Amino acid sequence: MSGKLLVLGGGGHAQVVMETMISLAWQERIVGILDADPDHVPENPFAIPVLGTDAELEHFPPESTQLVNGLGAVGKDHHRERLFLRLQKQGYQFPSLVHPDAVVARGVRVGAGAQIMAGAVVQVGSVVGENAIVNTGAVVDHDGAVGAHAHVGPGAVLCGGVTVDEGALVGAGATVIQGVHVGHHAVVGAGAVVVRNVANGARMAGVPARELPE
Ligand SMILES: CC(C)(COP(=O)(O)OP(=O)(O)OC[C@H]1O[C@@H](n2cnc3c(N)ncnc32)[C@H](O)[C@@H]1OP(=O)(O)O)[C@@H](O)C(=O)NCCC(=O)NCCS
Repeated sequence: MSGKLLVLGGGGHAQVVMETMISLAWQERIVGILDADPDHVPENPFAIPVLGTDAELEHFPPESTQLVNGLGAVGKDHHRERLFLRLQKQGYQFPSLVHPDAVVARGVRVGAGAQIMAGAVVQVGSVVGENAIVNTGAVVDHDGAVGAHAHVGPGAVLCGGVTVDEGALVGAGATVIQGVHVGHHAVVGAGAVVVRNVANGARMAGVPARELPE
């Protein structure tokens, strides 16, 4: 892989993303950060400069530049998903990011722009869709499917054969028992234990997880 790399967003998730990129020895290729609010991006310990907003992309065409999505995936507005789809449509490529201290079993398919963070384990037979996040210390056990733009939060555990559909969030420390299906854009609260399928767009929390009122 070669070419310049730009990080989209400079917040908390972006800091983790940048640390992962440095751990992969990509530092020579990182040219900077673009953020909707460039004046309020916190300093990063890697001295990666903030170049401005997305408008700067005109100086970095898709032929010479790849993008790394630094937006986290929480909340109802799906900024991360929308940003990825918009810029992918413009021809930009998003390399997948697998931290050297993550464990990804042989044969696991990892989509474009997917991010597997330090300490995560993705077991045999699993698939991680494009632009998905398997966050710090999360576990996707055998035959799991993490859909495009979905986010398995820090320390969450998907037992064997769990399917998390497009854009869903499984919150930090949650456990989803084997074979359960989490519908697209559903939200599983931090610490929940999910023992039944979760409908598309539903919000579940608690032990056992129950639907939260609107
Ligand atoms: C479930 C969640 C999405 C709800 O957020 P919200 O819509 O803002 O809901 P509120 O904070 O208004 O809480 C609504 C009710 O649900 C309860 N609740 C919220 N999160 C809960 C959780 N994780 N487990 C159990 N109960 C929870 C609240 O106590 C509150 O109960 P009450 O009405 O009896 O006071 C959120 O709390 C959560 O857990 N998000 C996941 C965050 C995460 O893991 N991020 C990882 C990113 S790195």
